[in-house]
Amino acid sequence: MGQKYLITSALPYVNGELHIGHLVGCWLPSDVYARFCRARGRDVLYICGADEHGTPAIVGAAKENMPIKEYNDKYYEKHLRAVSDFKLSFDLYGRTHTPEQEKLIHELFKRLEDEGLIEERETVQPFSVDDNMFLADRQLEGTCPKCGYEKARGDQCDNCSATYEATELLNPHSTISGSTNIEMRPTKNLFFLASKVEDDWRKWLKEHAPKWSKTASAIAMGWANEGLRDTSITRDLSWGIPVNKPGYENKVFYVWFDAPWGYVSISQAATDDWESWWKNSDCFYAQFMGKDNVKFHSVFFPEQQLAMNDNWKTVDMLKSMNFLNFEGGKISKSTGNGIFLDEALTIAPSDCWRYTLMASSPETDDTDFTMARFTDIVNKDLNGMLGNFVSRVCKLSNKNFGDVVPNGNGIDKDLETKINEKLNDLTNALDKCEFRDAVFALRSLWAIANEYMTVKEPWALVKNGDMVGAAVALNECFQMIDLFARVSAPFIPDAAEKIQNIFEIKHDLSWPTKYEHRIANGEKFVVPENLFNRIELTEKTNE
Ligand code: MF3
Ligand code: ZN
Repeated sequence: MGQKYLITSALPYVNGELHIGHLVGCWLPSDVYARFCRARGRDVLYICGADEHGTPAIVGAAKENMPIKEYNDKYYEKHLRAVSDFKLSFDLYGRTHTPEQEKLIHELFKRLEDEGLIEERETVQPFSVDDNMFLADRQLEGTCPKCGYEKARGDQCDNCSATYEATELLNPHSTISGSTNIEMRPTKNLFFLASKVEDDWRKWLKEHAPKWSKTASAIAMGWANEGLRDTSITRDLSWGIPVNKPGYENKVFYVWFDAPWGYVSISQAATDDWESWWKNSDCFYAQFMGKDNVKFHSVFFPEQQLAMNDNWKTVDMLKSMNFLNFEGGKISKSTGNGIFLDEALTIAPSDCWRYTLMASSPETDDTDFTMARFTDIVNKDLNGMLGNFVSRVCKLSNKNFGDVVPNGNGIDKDLETKINEKLNDLTNALDKCEFRDAVFALRSLWAIANEYMTVKEPWALVKNGDMVGAAVALNECFQMIDLFARVSAPFIPDAAEKIQNIFEIKHDLSWPTKYEHRIANGEKFVVPENLFNRIELTEKTNE
């Protein structure tokens, strides 16, 4: 086995419907990367799962009037469905409300306590008189103390990504009852003394952040200028991981204290060999997430990992995406704007979403995705460039030479140079997790093949009786078809499999280091059904 690669995708909350923003933000880029790594022979552990704790689940369950556990089961099923529908190749799609997670969090908490990094502090917290409870995180809404955004949450602002203590939120109201009758009452919570590990963390950040994606390292460096704050890691809530400390029977750990460690507990559930990734400094660790998650992965989680002094593997490549909008607006179930994953497949098959979304990755800015863009890319790239090429080659060849690959005559040197250049671009882009560049290079390979056909005109050669020439040209095209199965597989695995099945012999989909001829003269093949169908622009109407 090759080098160890640990790949994690942010664990989505179990509240609400999944949409294309979830796909593009972390699921697809991590999946493309994981498939690419496996194809290169790397020893991959690829993990994701549902984040079941925190106020998102509490608020969501209350809205649907369901017990939290049932509510989580319902949405976990939807997650699993989407994972299989969109061919996400996780080694395990787990969840965080498990005995394994609780055991791990309890051990880790003890460890931090032993290191002298936990302190009990009495602070005042927002207490809702009408709801008769303390309110935390998403149970509270108010004005952001940093940017003035009026729908900021108790712990985090969705507008400017600031994080703060709930007491700092201005004009707070309860999202449970809507009540503004909120008092500040004293309560005890446990704080993680981040300030004590600040030096180690800074040193670590300086070494690591320059290798991350640009958005991620810019966000992380911004936090470095602010200095580390001690953070409360417990909440006055009844849902979450119980706190293993006397006097805390009515509290739970803060969701962001337990969630990132979910990567570890899910790894433990996936393989007994989990330490060979998580405790191995030679392993390469890549994390994928939306930009609103960067702070927790670049500050909060590694801070704890370093503090434990236990050889935990920290992130080597932190890839973060900006937000995807849809038809000019924010994706939101409540306004009905967006494509939700249960309906996406009624519009087009999974490969179409995978490819068009990766081609629209919001890597440098927030990006607007539209149905017009979707239709255009499916018709031009997938159907027009890849699908038609494969189909034309197979049909023309079958008509003139039967069901065997016509005889070739070695690699066309010009073509070889052109292809290898783009193949290099593609490999480098994927290694750097630059997905738009990767899609561009992939598409360029398809373009080279189409151009080759146009220049060689094998149908004209046939017509003029040059059967040897026609055979050589078509043979070359079959070699490119084989190449396309390999290089397209991380993006459009279903189409890649269909291409692979064209040939009677099953050629592996390992990642090519260079263009090569793997298909023998006279090898049997079948003309496949269309890989893609043209689609008509459908208006997505808000329900
Ligand atoms: N549940 C969070 C969200 O949807 C992401 C958690 S990622 C993890 O924004 F690292 F905490 F697992
Ligand atoms: Zn803000």
